[in-house]
Amino acid sequence: MFESTSGRTLSLQLLLVCVVLLSCTQDSKAGLTSTFIRKQWPSKDIPLDNEVFAVPRGHNAPQQVHITQGDYDGKAVIVSWVTTEIPGPSKVQYGKSEEQLQWSAEGTITNYTFYQYKSGYIHHCLVDGLEYDTKYYYKIGMGDSARKFWFHTPPKIDPDAAYTFGIIGDLGQTYNSLSTLEHYMQSKGQAVLFLGDLSYADRYTKNDIGIRWDSWGRFAERVAAYQPWIWTVGNHEIDYMPELGEVRPFKNFMHRYTTPFLASKSSEPLWYAIRRASAHIIVLSSYSPFVKYTPQWWWLQEELTRVDREKTPWLIVLMHVPLYNSNEAHFMEGESMRVAFESWFVQYRVDFIFSGHVHAYERSYRISNINYNVSAGDPYPVPDKSAPVYLTVGDGGNQEGLASRYRDPQPEYSAFREASYGHATLEIKNRTHALYHWNRNDDGKKVTTDTVMFLNQYWASHLHRRRRRLEKRGLKSFTASY
Ligand SMILES: *[C@@H]1O[C@H](CO)[C@@H](O)[C@H](O)[C@H]1NC(C)=O
Ligand SMILES: *[C@@H]1O[C@H](CO)[C@@H](O)[C@H](O)[C@H]1NC(C)=O
Ligand SMILES: *[C@@H]1O[C@H](CO)[C@@H](O)[C@H](O)[C@H]1NC(C)=O
Ligand SMILES: [Fe+2]
Repeated sequence: MFESTSGRTLSLQLLLVCVVLLSCTQDSKAGLTSTFIRKQWPSKDIPLDNEVFAVPRGHNAPQQVHITQGDYDGKAVIVSWVTTEIPGPSKVQYGKSEEQLQWSAEGTITNYTFYQYKSGYIHHCLVDGLEYDTKYYYKIGMGDSARKFWFHTPPKIDPDAAYTFGIIGDLGQTYNSLSTLEHYMQSKGQAVLFLGDLSYADRYTKNDIGIRWDSWGRFAERVAAYQPWIWTVGNHEIDYMPELGEVRPFKNFMHRYTTPFLASKSSEPLWYAIRRASAHIIVLSSYSPFVKYTPQWWWLQEELTRVDREKTPWLIVLMHVPLYNSNEAHFMEGESMRVAFESWFVQYRVDFIFSGHVHAYERSYRISNINYNVSAGDPYPVPDKSAPVYLTVGDGGNQEGLASRYRDPQPEYSAFREASYGHATLEIKNRTHALYHWNRNDDGKKVTTDTVMFLNQYWASHLHRRRRRLEKRGLKSFTASY
């Protein structure tokens, strides 16, 4: 149904006939545009004196606590926090029981200015040599203002390791953002794949930019101190403000948030990879050079060869700007990266590409558009069983509000789309099955709206081949699925 006859505008009627005919056969499904219209809460940031931004009590108490994976395989965590009065110790005390924190690790301290704003003392401490699948308690700070948290390490790398990822993008710090975080806490998510655009502090001016980075750190702590957030950068992390004399891109983000980029042989914190349970996760930067021969291009080419689907069957790519998006907002912004990388994503049979940027939700079919070479070849997306599913989850709830104008008619590559706030969860069951949900924030309630059981692009295709052989011998019937 994607074949171009001679330009798709030529015959809409013919196309419709094709759609009707093909939808009666196996693979073709018409996309759905949800009619749900939510009552919007105002897309306004929560005032700074609200308790969600409360500064923890006590002299120099650690605040803005967050953790991320600290190595390639999940046996390390980086703990980060901010102190405001004096630097204080950069030590993390940790152990397997709350009473006995018998080990400790020493971190580093940094501080910076942004315009006339002076940051607090930002601590980053690598805690490594951890055991898999273990709950650790940790303590930071001193005396009465010390604070205690915990985290759970993932199971060891194994093709059948079950694990649940949460997926959140474009979060910001509004009442809708709070609702998203609260609903995420009701999900069984064990780690967050964050798709970029954290604080939206760049919507402020002068010193309020730094202040809103701080308030977001305190806001996200309720989740980020207990579960690793895997960071992807978005446009709101760039903070390029020549009018304030601030011209170093990602300055606020890079001081406050760290990634284990060296562990995946990357040269920059903005693109890197980790392995966790049964997933290999590749993080890309939409706002760093990625054309042929750039560091990010070389690195991605190398990293894809390191993926071992026998050990980590689930291959997931994160980036801020979607490659397939049928919303009017940011339409076609991902084209340059799509042209650079899509053929690799198909070649390596990537399972999912998650992105944000568009403040709405969308899921694609498995499609690709890699045949066009300027002089010849089909220029439209076509169904492709080797291609990833593209998921846009940019609906965390920031102050810019929803992107509610979709292109009409819905393109054939779009399976489901809805302009409302929410988050997603990916429950990996084993090497072949992963149950995916998108959960809408429905006037304060969490409502699971889009549910798909995905089959793995590596292992399930092996199964397909085996089943087809069985089928040929008349032993088993075969039903096509994702
Ligand atoms: C960092 O902190 C030190 C010690 O308080 C201070 O002297 C210095 O000015 C700070 N640097 C920046 C860039 O804020
Ligand atoms: C472009 O695509 C056409 C049709 O597939 C093919 O015949 C031709 O060799 C391609 N040219 C280049 C430069 O890849
Ligand atoms: C994998 O998980 C799916 C869904 O829970 C289940 O139906 C299937 O039997 C599992 N496969 C194996 C080999 O356990
Ligand atoms: Fe964005």
